[in-house]
Amino acid sequence: MTHILHRQTGHSYPVAASAQGVIIRDSAGKEYIDASGGAAVSCLGHGHPDVLAAMHEQLDRLAYAHTSFFTSQVAEALADDLIAHAPRGIGRVFYVSGGSEAVEAALKLARQYFVERGELERRYIVARYQSYHGITLGALAVGSREWQRQQFGPLLIETHHVSPVYEYRGRRADEMPQAYSERLARELEAKIEELGGGNVIAFVAETVVGATLGAVAAVPGYFGRVREICDRHGVLLILDEVMCGMGRTGTLHACEQEGISPDLIAIAKGLGGGYAPIGALLMQEKIFATIAKGSGAFQHSHTYMGHPLACTAALAVQQVIRRDDLLANVRRQGSHLARRCASVSAIMPSLATCAGAACFRGSNWCTIAAPRSRSIQR
Ligand SMILES: Cc1ncc(COP(=O)(O)O)c(C=O)c1O
Repeated sequence: MTHILHRQTGHSYPVAASAQGVIIRDSAGKEYIDASGGAAVSCLGHGHPDVLAAMHEQLDRLAYAHTSFFTSQVAEALADDLIAHAPRGIGRVFYVSGGSEAVEAALKLARQYFVERGELERRYIVARYQSYHGITLGALAVGSREWQRQQFGPLLIETHHVSPVYEYRGRRADEMPQAYSERLARELEAKIEELGGGNVIAFVAETVVGATLGAVAAVPGYFGRVREICDRHGVLLILDEVMCGMGRTGTLHACEQEGISPDLIAIAKGLGGGYAPIGALLMQEKIFATIAKGSGAFQHSHTYMGHPLACTAALAVQQVIRRDDLLANVRRQGSHLARRCASVSAIMPSLATCAGAACFRGSNWCTIAAPRSRSIQR
């Protein structure tokens, strides 16, 4: 008998008792290979000694200080690190505790940005079908998992959806990838024009679609066109890289491979690698500057934002990824997976669609976990 409202009430869950590397052991001693790192979270595997050491040390020093009154050394250091490696123009970080919170914060910051600029009529969000952006009301509204949205419909903000980039199903047999990309870009622009360009706050998309399509990257050129369209209408581009970001595709941010810089990027999952609940919203300096010159405060906060222990975990994870050159490993493993998918697809085309689609065009999609080596010098 459990007193927890688990994800499925009728299901009996094994008790995870310990974990090391890719293995999770339950309380009966049974071992499980955590091949996907949970929901694309445990990018360094379990029990990484460097991350644990950093967390232990931080815990002995400072566990919590409320962000209304204090900042912390580690929160500042993590922000410095994230900004130093962020796409062009990204200048500030807003901390949260997970992916949904990051998306929620993105939607609110985007709206507040326009309020501060006096563009009060901007009220619509455009997003894509077959996307998942999280489970809180704002994030659920912009996502399109109908089975999760349906009963909460009356509570959701108005969002307009356009087609995803789903080449396998969406591209016509007589259509080249570039023409397909152009068709989707025109659909987005038509939607923005239908709503009135000056009424739209943002376009939200996963750079590589995760949970709802299964590792599907955009066709080349798509995000470049999206960026142009957003700029033309003054609409913010919010990329949700909660699942595909922080190294999972072989570059720290998946959008680096698209050659564009969004206005806002939501990150989580691999940011803390499962060692602590942490997410973040990265923003263009112009957005920060607008708030700073205007009201001076983002009207949004959480008690646990910037939690020192979570920031410590995230900083240590990022340092290990860089020190051990794990992104090169992602690229290597991604190319290997792409080759294998290609060979399978020759025999069984339908088997090699999703994971393969991400790999075939250079977006690698795999767990970073690599053999451990040196420890971090602090
Ligand atoms: C792309 C994307 N955005 C947002 C979320 C929500 O993140 P969380 O479950 O941490 O709230 C997820 C979770 O799977 C996700 O894949």
